[in-house]
Amino acid sequence: MLKKIFFKKKTQRKHIVSKDNLDLNKLPQHIGIIMDGNGRWATGKGLIRTSGHKAGANTVKNILMTCIKLNIPVLTVYAFSTENWKRPITEVNFLMNLFSNFLAAQIEDLCKNNVQIKFIGRIDELPGTLAKEFHKAEEITKDNTGVKFNVAINYGGRDEIVTAVKNIAKQVNDGTLSVEQIDDKIIDDSLYTKGLPPVDLMIRTSGDMRLSNFLLWQSAYAEFWFTKTNWPDFTSEEFIEALIDFQHRDRRFGGLDKKLN
Ligand code: FPP
Repeated sequence: MLKKIFFKKKTQRKHIVSKDNLDLNKLPQHIGIIMDGNGRWATGKGLIRTSGHKAGANTVKNILMTCIKLNIPVLTVYAFSTENWKRPITEVNFLMNLFSNFLAAQIEDLCKNNVQIKFIGRIDELPGTLAKEFHKAEEITKDNTGVKFNVAINYGGRDEIVTAVKNIAKQVNDGTLSVEQIDDKIIDDSLYTKGLPPVDLMIRTSGDMRLSNFLLWQSAYAEFWFTKTNWPDFTSEEFIEALIDFQHRDRRFGGLDKKLN
């Protein structure tokens, strides 16, 4: 089914009405993914945990490619949390190298596919030359107009909100902002995701059903989709399944069901 959609011309890619199909006019504008289960995938196969992360990087490529084909405006993936520093140093180092190598290997394709990459989190506190490499990639892709691909590294949702509150408080202190002016928009604009739509769909792989400090503010009205599949085994087909499921949700945003109105 997907192949059929992908290989149709853009003008033909609409009004796919069957319940089992994907409606390309009703896609989520921002998808968040908690890529969990790399370690379990590896140990389940008798491999060391880090091979799970390596395999997980391939899944990132596949899912990003699907977002490109579908024209999903924003994809944000959770790659390393502010809490992940508690892991063994060998695993942390492996992940940092993996991020660096991934970027080096993908930057050309990101440009070819018109992707704008951004790294969100405490990037400037990362070891070695990572921050420099990440900022360089952001600079290279900043004028790309396709999918906005955010990679959360050294990211924590509470930390993001605390930082935003501090910045807002400073402006109040300086007299450039009044307390009355503080509203949702001021807070939105003080987050890493400034200017982006809120998360419509949050996906988490490998069976756990929690948000783990990811995009707390941005997910206020997100629909959640959980799967037991470990991240390295997560396919484009399952991703499309999540999108189709999302399209059948009744999103009321605190209002009433249209049928009851
Ligand atoms: C959670 O699985 C995954 C991570 C902490 C790392 C995510 C990193 C990748 C998917 C690698 C590639 C990413 C990019 C952006 C190139 P876990 O290790 O906690 O798995 P477990 O719960 O089974 O132990």
